[in-house]
Amino acid sequence: MNRFDYIKNAIDEAEFSDIIPEEDTKRQYYYMSLCRKWLKEKEAEIGRKLTACVNTFGCQMNARDSEKLIGILKLIGYEESEDEKSDFVLYNTCTVRENANQKVYGHLGFLSNAKKKNPHMMIALCGCMMQEDHVVEKIKKSYRFVDIIFGTHNIYTFPELLYQRISQGSMIVDIWKDTDKIVEELPIERKFSFKSGVNIMFGCNNFCSYCIVPYVRGRERSRKPEDIIAEIKSLVEDGVIEIMLLGQNVNSYGKGMEAGITFAQLLKQIDDIEGLKRIRFMTSHPKDLSDELIEVMAQSKKICHHLHLPIQSGSSRILKIMNRKYDKEHYLELVEKLRKAIPDISLTTDFIVGFPGETEEDFEETVDIVRKVRFDSAFTFIYSKRTGTPAATMENQVPEDVIKNRFDRLLNEIHRTGAASVKRFEGEIKDVLVESLNNQEGYVTGRLDSSITVHFKGTKDLIGQIVNVRLDEAKGFYFMGTMV
Ligand code: SAH
Ligand code: SF4
Ligand code: F3S
Repeated sequence: MNRFDYIKNAIDEAEFSDIIPEEDTKRQYYYMSLCRKWLKEKEAEIGRKLTACVNTFGCQMNARDSEKLIGILKLIGYEESEDEKSDFVLYNTCTVRENANQKVYGHLGFLSNAKKKNPHMMIALCGCMMQEDHVVEKIKKSYRFVDIIFGTHNIYTFPELLYQRISQGSMIVDIWKDTDKIVEELPIERKFSFKSGVNIMFGCNNFCSYCIVPYVRGRERSRKPEDIIAEIKSLVEDGVIEIMLLGQNVNSYGKGMEAGITFAQLLKQIDDIEGLKRIRFMTSHPKDLSDELIEVMAQSKKICHHLHLPIQSGSSRILKIMNRKYDKEHYLELVEKLRKAIPDISLTTDFIVGFPGETEEDFEETVDIVRKVRFDSAFTFIYSKRTGTPAATMENQVPEDVIKNRFDRLLNEIHRTGAASVKRFEGEIKDVLVESLNNQEGYVTGRLDSSITVHFKGTKDLIGQIVNVRLDEAKGFYFMGTMV
């Protein structure tokens, strides 16, 4: 029996339970059965199917959580839709930078009007933004039409909260400050049939001085290796060939766990899973990148030769104030070791421009590291002040016009060096996993193991397959190719 059927059966069974189960997962199956019953009655009453739309902001961690939430909604009986005027709309929010928050408030304005026109509509908010008291207070006060609010630690109680809303009729708010729980065996509806994210750990203990994540995602906790392996095996049975192991700092996987396992050892076990073709992971923190991991990456045929290794700044002085626990020299040493062990490795990174106190000299160090490392690509972010983090109250916040100027200069440098670096593969024939149809008719888009995008002539039936493609022409960060 596959995972989906197993859970469906468990919900069918739960329907006949006359006591509310205590155990976390069974309890949610029970509430899913009650919601399902309610939904069937509702559909009969209004004479049509009800639809649900989940809109995700933020990182891969949130995307994976959304797949769990969609899985629950579908098992209850909602039809999945992309329309934000659906009968159930759920926003999974992000608060890493202020513009992510602004987007959510913008969308809420739109939803308020949509809800006036559809009396069956329910609106739920969850995710990182909801872990901040001031956000929840604002929604309770100014967005009274929201039906359910929950946080990052209790997404698995969503069926119970939904049932509370249905039976009580008033706004339900349930935010937990932290948790040490990891609840397994909930339904998941994957976005792609051939690739999937897999959580290996939750939370973060690093407290980089600019970052809100440790406050909204709680303390670091690793999933048991046997649960991770079992999940990947069942994904492979279901047609998945590429997995992305997810955590805020995957290199510290296993710390404090009884099993006494490192991330590199976990990777080795995953590498042995038959049928799995590609293994990716994110995010790696430079302070914990071990020689053991580099060796495992170099020896494996499945671990992709790509490392996303966020540096944030090239200035050792700024890195210290950011509490990153490495300096520019250490980062350059890591790059050297990686390139020696895995010559074709693709390196990508994240930068923050305009951290408090960043001087022109500090910024020059950042430009210098771009020139020295030659990343294939990089994400650049303008520093965003997050209430409650140490950096928010630091003096010497950098003026906006100075930040904008540095941001544009850094972007130019990344484009220039990235384009030159990507060009090294031009003319080679490489494996490409085809991911989607291209906007241009007759073309498909896929990814190299280095994660670089390739567009080439092809048809829909190639999606999910690994094919050989000649990389004809590098165009900045991507390739135009020909299938051979
Ligand atoms: N755990 C990962 C990063 C998660 S957040 C790591 O440590 O590498 C993703 C990226 O958002 C970070 O790498 C950083 O570049 C950016 N970021 C985080 N907080 C930010 C802030 N306050 N302002 C601007 N960018 C920020
Ligand atoms: Fe934020 Fe630092 Fe944790 Fe990454 S490692 S999530 S940047 S605190
Ligand atoms: Fe955003 Fe939360 Fe991810 S704040 S970046 S969605 S962990």
